[in-house]
Amino acid sequence: MLPGGVDSPVRAFGAVGGTPYFVARAEGAYVWDVEGRRYTDYVQSWGASILGHANPAVVDAVQRAARDGTSFGAPTEREVLLAEAIRERVPSCERVRLVSSGTEATMSAIRVARGYTGRDRIVKFAGCYHGHVDELLVTAGSGVATFGLPGSAGVPAGAVADTVVVPYNVVPQIGDDVACVIVEPVAANMGLVAPAPGFLEGLRGACDGAGALLVFDEVVTGFRLGPGGAQERYGVTPDLTTLGKVVGGGLPLAAFGGREEVMSVLAPDGPVYQAGTLSGNPLATAAGLAVLEQLDGAAYRRLEGRAGQLAGWLADVVGEAGLDVIVPSVGPLVGLFFTDRPVTDYESAKAADPKLYARFFHEMLARGVALPPSPFETWFPSLAHTKDELERTADLAAAAARAIA
Ligand SMILES: Cc1ncc(COP(=O)(O)O)c(C=O)c1O
Repeated sequence: MLPGGVDSPVRAFGAVGGTPYFVARAEGAYVWDVEGRRYTDYVQSWGASILGHANPAVVDAVQRAARDGTSFGAPTEREVLLAEAIRERVPSCERVRLVSSGTEATMSAIRVARGYTGRDRIVKFAGCYHGHVDELLVTAGSGVATFGLPGSAGVPAGAVADTVVVPYNVVPQIGDDVACVIVEPVAANMGLVAPAPGFLEGLRGACDGAGALLVFDEVVTGFRLGPGGAQERYGVTPDLTTLGKVVGGGLPLAAFGGREEVMSVLAPDGPVYQAGTLSGNPLATAAGLAVLEQLDGAAYRRLEGRAGQLAGWLADVVGEAGLDVIVPSVGPLVGLFFTDRPVTDYESAKAADPKLYARFFHEMLARGVALPPSPFETWFPSLAHTKDELERTADLAAAAARAIA
């Protein structure tokens, strides 16, 4: 009935083989499939559920909002409150527009950058994913300035003719025809790859030198690395920021924001058109506010501490089984590469062993642990993953690694 059996391709287990579990319900750190099996869940809606599933305050906020109507087509107070909550935490977002998905956020940010600068060319990094926007769906060739080839059938060559793809963690030359450079400040879609020291600062300098805008795609890192996301953690301020996942509390909501002067090109103030029937949806804004309220300093310290412990344990137990493994962690994000070489970009990420990941994935699934079904994704331990639960995961990982070694 559904093409490939899914509504989003990575859910289909294409990278690891087998048939996906069908989720019946979820709570905290766990999901239950339709056959009643429980899994400790490190997918957590691909990072949308930072508090864990079905957080009581979020569920309550959504239920109360639903009683007052599910969508209006006119402004509401909670849209303003959520935009203010974003600006408070991410000061570079002087103006914020709410949308319904990360894809919409990056697509709109690119349009704003082009409208503001009057330039067409954009620069993206190999291995960074910014949603299924035509001009950002570009495969990386090797080399410094691979001109765009469509990364998907159905994307006309013209749509990517102005997209330049360059390797992650190398500051590229930026010409004065470039509208913007878009980057995941911590790359979380080629496994987990941290920015090299000086990389983000270098991008800021290169953009300033060329009069181009710097766009941080913080759909994953926003409200996850800390209240101010990657830009706060690394001390580099972009011109535009895209946000998603955490900010919608598991409902369809995302956002983009930036300097007032840049955002003023957006309709109805300016000539760059962007719109949405469900933008700033009342249920989604209620969920987002209920999540942000719970994310204080203690919550971030707990998340980061536990993720660091999990990464350390995993590296130990998988390594002790005799497998070459690297387990990076950045704040609350954890990755896992079966390789003995450092992973710093897409090429080195692709050199890790995908078959070993697939076997590890299935050994873990059989033991009741749901990992991302692809080696090019990131694990999302949530606040609901207790220290005991993470220790149990490490024990199960030890058994899984021994089984495949
Ligand atoms: C960094 C990044 N940007 C954009 C997107 C697209 O978001 P969405 O799937 O909500 O369209 C994703 C999705 O995983 C992402 O990881």
